[in-house]
Amino acid sequence: MTDSEDRRGGDGSPWLTIDVDLGERGYPVRIGAGIRHTLPEVIAAIGARRVAVVSARPAEWTPDPGVDALRVEARDGERGKSLAWVEELCGRFAEFGLTRSDAVVSCGGGTTTDAVGLAAALYHRGVPVVHLPTSLLAQVDASVGGKTAVNLPQGKNLVGAYWQPRAVLCDTDYLTTLPERERVNGYGEIARCHFIGAGDLRGLSTARQIAASVARKAQIVSLDERDTGLRHLLNYGHTLGHALERATDFALRHGEAVAVGTVFAGRLAGALGRIGPERVAEHLDVVRHYGLPTGLPAGVTTGELVSLARLDKKATDGLTFVLDGPDGAELVAGVPEETVSAVLDAMPRQSRAGASAR
Ligand code: GLY
Repeated sequence: MTDSEDRRGGDGSPWLTIDVDLGERGYPVRIGAGIRHTLPEVIAAIGARRVAVVSARPAEWTPDPGVDALRVEARDGERGKSLAWVEELCGRFAEFGLTRSDAVVSCGGGTTTDAVGLAAALYHRGVPVVHLPTSLLAQVDASVGGKTAVNLPQGKNLVGAYWQPRAVLCDTDYLTTLPERERVNGYGEIARCHFIGAGDLRGLSTARQIAASVARKAQIVSLDERDTGLRHLLNYGHTLGHALERATDFALRHGEAVAVGTVFAGRLAGALGRIGPERVAEHLDVVRHYGLPTGLPAGVTTGELVSLARLDKKATDGLTFVLDGPDGAELVAGVPEETVSAVLDAMPRQSRAGASAR
């Protein structure tokens, strides 16, 4: 990580840069207040003469790329993540005359960076894309690492591509505009970083928490870009998290569900004798520190969660979880169902899914 002390954001804090080391496909992730205004420099470095800016934010929050630009309003939200939307975007790019040496800019949450990233991957068989993630969740996870995807009626993220951006600009000014529940939601992915090698990020500024989370993700992605092994670590807390999202019909948000999944992962690792009681308790302390839910929402049953956990994409051999252990976190397959059920049964229950389920 490098602190660019010569460049300071509007709040006086330095801008931070994390390099994602992928050789000729490597790129910087830049973090700080007001960093969105450096977009013209990024576009100039790419050499694009025209840019399509797909933004979920109003015009005053969508930076000028400094060249001739097509502006398209994004369809934020899971319903917008469709192949039909990708086709429409590519059509708009073509009508505008975007060439393969031009560029696409996405500005929005993870659903925007996912769909626009896929359109950029497909248009002319791939044009440069720059992400300006506006949610905390997208800044610490979705916009970094090159995964792009849209949903099918049959499931989430079933059609996608690996397409690394040329740069990611994480402007912390965007976070000041988020509803409280959405801001806290982003901490779910920061909390899980504590257990996958990022260290204790409590007490750091938000910018440094983002930078440390991105730095850990960048290390992992640079070693396993295509998700064949190590990258599974990023799914800490996600097996139960995804099950909880589905069981609550997405009333529990992704970061909230990952938070509960992280507490559960600690308890499960404890039940399997992989970690001691202090480390189990640390899971609860960390998640609670960030103001996230720690118990199962009311109305979901252990049987339902176990069935959904079996559908997890990592599960090649029975129930599979990323679990802490003596050598750190790792993928653990074939976890006995009775242990999973017993740990779920012992989890505290909350009154309802959502922000009050803390
Ligand atoms: N969000 C997990 C990954 O990028 O692999």
